Amino acid sequence: MLFMVIEGFRDKQCDDAGQTGAAEARRWLGGVRLDIVCAGDLLLTGGGLLIVMTAMKGFVEAERDKDGLLGVHSVDHFGLVVPDLKAAEHFYSASGIDPVAIGDHLELRASISDHAWGKVTEGKRKHVNYLSFGAYAEDIPRFREHLKKVAVETITPPADMAGDGIWFLDHDGRPVEIKAAAKVSSDGKRQPRAGTAEARAVPLIPAPEVKPVRLAHLILFTQHIDRAIDFYTRVLGLRLSDRCGQTICFLHGVHGSDHHIIGFGHSDGPGLHHTSWEVDGVDAIGLGAKQMAGKGYCEGWGLGRHGAGSNYFHYIRDPWKSLLELTCDADYIPKGTTWCAADLDMAQAVMQWGPAPPADFGANYELQS
Ligand SMILES: [Fe+2]
Repeated sequence: MLFMVIEGFRDKQCDDAGQTGAAEARRWLGGVRLDIVCAGDLLLTGGGLLIVMTAMKGFVEAERDKDGLLGVHSVDHFGLVVPDLKAAEHFYSASGIDPVAIGDHLELRASISDHAWGKVTEGKRKHVNYLSFGAYAEDIPRFREHLKKVAVETITPPADMAGDGIWFLDHDGRPVEIKAAAKVSSDGKRQPRAGTAEARAVPLIPAPEVKPVRLAHLILFTQHIDRAIDFYTRVLGLRLSDRCGQTICFLHGVHGSDHHIIGFGHSDGPGLHHTSWEVDGVDAIGLGAKQMAGKGYCEGWGLGRHGAGSNYFHYIRDPWKSLLELTCDADYIPKGTTWCAADLDMAQAVMQWGPAPPADFGANYELQS
């Protein structure tokens, strides 16, 4: 019998550690079909393989319901201020996102619906000026009570923000809204488009135009990773998916969402690292990057596959030196899943494969503006 030790399968704080380990073992074995049986610290396989589950660098205790399930289900949209609205219109158009002029701002729309995923206004310096989260209508009164319970004061909505959402400030003083809204986060893994045996996988003529399907997630900078996790889990009801110590963290929704709908990376101050947009598949990521390069947006990083979230990626620098990510095939965490959040090494989290990231990939250029 072959003995094999694979680091990272054992989570002593997870009730179903064995099942998690088995699932991971299957995945790490590249989809090889093996009958895997959990036996304490051992996974016994039908293929004559013994896998010894060992401890990883560290695991974070799985979060569980205490007073019923209360959490936002989606990032409804983000507010973004940029110094030049025309430049924003050109950049987002190049990506296949539809920037629709509404009054004095642009609404960023994607192909799945006419939902506004971002509202871009003109101002002195680029920054995310607010975040709006969607919740089920029946949960809005519960959120009002919950905010009182956790001693978070509500604020009057920022100027020009209509509606009856609940507004408050997050751990970095950024206005955040929870409002009744349709769930716009993913409801499952997006399947690649079915092809036919008689046609090319990617048509040569006409060249496919790439149009992102939806906002997948956004990653913000913060000085305080622990405070970000505490605030967004305790107040908004998100859950930790994975983290890399005090460097970065990823959060998902309790009603079913991608591995992360929002995350935070450490910096010396707040800022936007990237917005991420789901496309139809790996070809669409490559074609999208090519499409943007053809419009002058060449700087970035990709193609690769992340470790945290498992999504394919290609990043493109925007005119204000934050990034837009084209992505697909992220891990999906269904409602009711007891997800065991891992404390990953940064190298594991950043990529499973791909070219080396540029030296300034983690730079927060908003600190210099
Ligand atoms: Fe991302």
